[in-house]
Amino acid sequence: MTYRELLQAAQGKMGPCHACPVCNGRACGNTIPGPGAKGSGDVAIRNYDAWQRVRLHMDTLHENVPVATSCTLFGKTFRYPIFAGPVGATALHYGPLYDDMAYNNILVPACAAAGIAAFTGDGTNPQVMVAATAAVQAAGGMGVPTVKPWDPATLAQKMALVAQSGCFALAMDIDAAGLPFLQNLTPPAGSKTVAELREIVAASPVPFVVKGIMTPAAALKAEQAGAAAIVVSNHGGRVLDGCPATAEVLPAIVQAVGGRMKVLVDGGIRTGTDVFRALALGADAVLVARPYVTAVYGGGAEGVALYTHKLGAELADAMAMCGAATLADITPAMVGVY
Ligand SMILES: Cc1cc2nc3c(=O)[nH]c(=O)nc-3n(C[C@H](O)[C@H](O)[C@H](O)COP(=O)(O)O)c2cc1C
Repeated sequence: MTYRELLQAAQGKMGPCHACPVCNGRACGNTIPGPGAKGSGDVAIRNYDAWQRVRLHMDTLHENVPVATSCTLFGKTFRYPIFAGPVGATALHYGPLYDDMAYNNILVPACAAAGIAAFTGDGTNPQVMVAATAAVQAAGGMGVPTVKPWDPATLAQKMALVAQSGCFALAMDIDAAGLPFLQNLTPPAGSKTVAELREIVAASPVPFVVKGIMTPAAALKAEQAGAAAIVVSNHGGRVLDGCPATAEVLPAIVQAVGGRMKVLVDGGIRTGTDVFRALALGADAVLVARPYVTAVYGGGAEGVALYTHKLGAELADAMAMCGAATLADITPAMVGVY
C-alpha cells in the first residue's frame, strides 16, 4: 500500500472528513462534530501554515554518516520522536466505522509495533477511557492515556484504570474546557488551579503530561504543579478560536521551561519535515493526531505503520540534508522563518 492508496481507501469512510491529500484544516473548516476547528475554523489552518513558513537550511558539507532518529523520553526509547495524538469519540466525529474501542485496538498496538506510542483520547462516555486503557494494557503499557480535566471523583476512577494499564505516562488535556460538547455537563470538567493540578499530578502513578499549553506563563504553572512534560497545543483549534499557531508560540515556551521539563508540540504537523521544524524550534518530540485517524480508516494497522515510517524517513532525510546525525544535533540555526 502507498500513502496515496491509503488516502483513497479512507475517502468516503470518514464521515465529514474528506481524507484530503494535505490535512490542513481547509476542507473541514469549523465542522464539529467532525475533525474541524471551533468558530471561524482558522486556527487549524494557521497551525498547518505556520510550519510551512519555517524553512530548512540545507547544508551537506559534513561527514556522511547514517542518521539516528531514536529518542528517549519517560525512560523509554522510541524509534522516532513522534507520538500519535489522542483522538476521542471517533464515531461521533468520523462516523460509525470505528468506535473508540475498535480505533484504539488498531492504533495502539500498531504504533507500538512501529516503535512509537499512541496517546489515547477521552470523552463524556466512561467507556472511552475503559477502552483506551485496555488497549494500552494489551500493548504492554506502550501508550499514554489522556484524561479530561474532570472533577476529583471522576478523575479518581480514571486514575485507577490508568494505574492498571501499566502505561509509562499519563496526560491531561487541560484545555478541554473549551470543547463545545464538554460544557455544562455532568460530570463537570474544566480549568484547574495550580494547587488542584498539583494534587492530580501527585496522585498519578506515572509521569504526568499537561496538554494544551499556549503561553510561557501556563508552562511555568504546569512546572509548578509538578508536570514532567507539556504539550504545546491548541487542541487543533477545537477549544478557542483566534489562537496563534503552535509553531508561533513554541520558541518562547521552550525558552521559559526547556531543559527543566520535556516540551512536546502538536497542531498541523503532517510530514517528517514538519517534525524536523518542530525539533529545530526546541521541541523534544511531536504529536500527530488527525492523520493517524486517516491512517487507521484507510489502512488499519498497515496504514499506521506506513504513515509512521513515512514520517520517520522524511525526518531522517531532513536531518541528513541539514547536517544533524542525531536529534540532539538539530539546532535552531538549521531553520529560519521566512
Ligand atoms: C476528532 C478529534 C478528537 C480529539 N480528541 C481529543 C481527546 O480526546 N483528547 C485530547 O487531548 N485531544 C484530542 N484531540 C486533539 C488532538 O489530540 C490534537 O491536539 C489536535 O488535533 C492537533 O493535532 P493535529 O493537527 O495533528 O490533529 C482531538 C482532535 C480531534 C480532531
